[in-house]
Amino acid sequence: MEKYKILFVCLGNICRSPAAQAVMERIIAERGISGRVEVDSAGISGYHKGDLPDKRMRVHAARRGLRLTHLSRPVSHSDFECFDLIIGMDDANVDDLRDMAYTLDEERKIVRISRFFRAFRGQDCIPDPYYGGAEGFENVLDLLDDACNAIADLIVAGTLETEVFNS
Ligand code: 4NP
Repeated sequence: MEKYKILFVCLGNICRSPAAQAVMERIIAERGISGRVEVDSAGISGYHKGDLPDKRMRVHAARRGLRLTHLSRPVSHSDFECFDLIIGMDDANVDDLRDMAYTLDEERKIVRISRFFRAFRGQDCIPDPYYGGAEGFENVLDLLDDACNAIADLIVAGTLETEVFNS
């Protein structure tokens, strides 16, 4: 069976989306579904291309046992063909991704991560932690944990596609 492919996208691909990738990878490994799902991340901007995640993000993630090793890369149009689901961290990411899509089918793959929040239902994004303090990085990890567990539940239930494309 083809793997279901999920791409997490933020602005720089050095804070939120590489953390999302690591959180999601850990959750799918814990649930024994790594063979069914592939996860990657990318940035709207190529400014940090080739860089490891921001040191602060790596330190906060490491405290939760997550090692962030992804190297930043910009989103490319081929991602719209390659991935089944493209998840933006905030409205700006989603708007920029929509601008990049060529077709309605490609546009339908783009969702904002907040639609998967459960404990944090009502919040509308994962705020950019880059110019803030430590609490911003902790907040990123808390929100990601919530959303990624919900995504994994939908994959296990076999309802992720229905949830995303029929609502
Ligand atoms: P990210 O955070 O989008 O979560 O990776 C940022 C990283 C870098 C910049 C902004 C946000 N920057 O302006 O360089």
